Amino acid sequence: MVISTAIADAGQALHCTFASRYVRTSLPRFKMPENSIPKDAAYQIINDELMLDGNPRLNLASFVTTWMEPECDKLILSTINKNYVDMDEYPVTTELQNRCVNIIAHLFNAPVKEEEAAVGVGTVGSSEAIMLAGLAFKRQWQNKRKAEGKPYDKPNIVTGANVQVCWEKFARYFEVELKEVKLREGYYVMDPKKAVEMVDENTICVAAILGSTLNGEFEDVKLLNDLLTEKNKETGWGTSIHVDAASGGFIAPFLYPDLEWDFRLPLVKSINVSGHKYGMVYPGIGWVIWRTKEDLPDELIFHINYLGADQPTFTLNFSKGASQIIAQYYQFIRLGFEGYRNIMGNCAENAKVLRGGLEKTGRFEIISKEVGVPLVAFAFKDSKHNVFEISENLRRFGWIVPAYTMAPDAQHIAVLRVVVREDFSRTLAERLLNDILRVLRELDELPPKTVQVKEATVQAADNSADGVVFKKSVRETQEEITRYWRRFVQGKKMNGVC
Ligand SMILES: Cc1ncc(COP(=O)(O)O)c(C=O)c1O
Repeated sequence: MVISTAIADAGQALHCTFASRYVRTSLPRFKMPENSIPKDAAYQIINDELMLDGNPRLNLASFVTTWMEPECDKLILSTINKNYVDMDEYPVTTELQNRCVNIIAHLFNAPVKEEEAAVGVGTVGSSEAIMLAGLAFKRQWQNKRKAEGKPYDKPNIVTGANVQVCWEKFARYFEVELKEVKLREGYYVMDPKKAVEMVDENTICVAAILGSTLNGEFEDVKLLNDLLTEKNKETGWGTSIHVDAASGGFIAPFLYPDLEWDFRLPLVKSINVSGHKYGMVYPGIGWVIWRTKEDLPDELIFHINYLGADQPTFTLNFSKGASQIIAQYYQFIRLGFEGYRNIMGNCAENAKVLRGGLEKTGRFEIISKEVGVPLVAFAFKDSKHNVFEISENLRRFGWIVPAYTMAPDAQHIAVLRVVVREDFSRTLAERLLNDILRVLRELDELPPKTVQVKEATVQAADNSADGVVFKKSVRETQEEITRYWRRFVQGKKMNGVC
């Protein structure tokens, strides 16, 4: 039946969505429409509106996978109608999830024997994984405190101020105080010494990040482990560590196999990783792995009798798609260790090209490290322009490069960040570099920015007449940018970078 034609009896020849009335009526935005519309019209209209979104491949703000092989796309599409939670109905899918958990646990050096099953679960992403890991720590700590006859109503968790917003969510949703080690200029990750100083008898764990969201840097988990071991000896508190390896968990094992950050360190009890970041699966998959089954309190696992089978589950959600889990297993067997190592090596090389090109300009200070997530975070050395202008101007060429301020107490530093993913080749890196240089040249041609700042005028009233034009220092400009920017990001963590 043809129902999309404007003139029904004009026949098949006019069965064209753009010749129909559906493209000249505005779509309802608040209430469900009374009538149906043809499927081709619905597809065309939505698809066209989505053209106004950014291009995911040029979205250099995100760590999340934007390209997979067509064979895997096929697998995803053919399994998109499977609900992962129907384990009895889809036992093979459950088995694939378990294989993924085992593979990741071995990659992270969990102390599991050859044929022993590792303890872990697939999640929607690292955020859910972190909620589960946090809950396990909280319950362990509460159980211990109860057994000792001590109060257990004031749990806290120690992190760096650079943690991703999901840690703030965990703290607020599950009523745990978040104790953040502040950053400082030139040091943008959690200082293990200060973190250990902050630990007290109510600390459920210290969370370290392998691949800070702000600059990709790996925190020193080994030093944290050593310092905490000492403190535990003195206090008997037995505080342990969670590693948020959302990005770094699929980088370190391949590029820095000798770096000790995982279950090789005795105090590391759980680790999360995003399958949809450098695990190289489209959005919707994360993992949390526990060192042993003793580190996951049994009372958090629900045994449900669902459709005739006993199902142990430990997730926040019940239903979820199965296709991302299947895609993760595809990547593991398709690429193997060799493939992941080559891809991570390419990403690191392309990040190096970009970093080198930016350094050559003499205008930028590189805030990211060579060892870490393959990304380039950079700030202006001078105050002639600000990073937000660069970010805005790069949009003209299609590039999405976020600009943001660092976390407290380094919030006067504003940076740009380019995440190098598998599908960001050297050619693209070189083109981006050219476009950054072009924007810089264009901005340089604008008249110099000496801004009349009322505040500064007032402060300097002793030795200058009102209305004097001031040339501001780099620091003053940075602070002004931060103040300006804060109006938009007040109370938001990371200013939208993920
Ligand atoms: C260090 C870190 N932890 C956690 C998350 C949250 O991860 P997800 O988006 O997989 O929930 C991110 C996201 O960028 C991150 O960078």
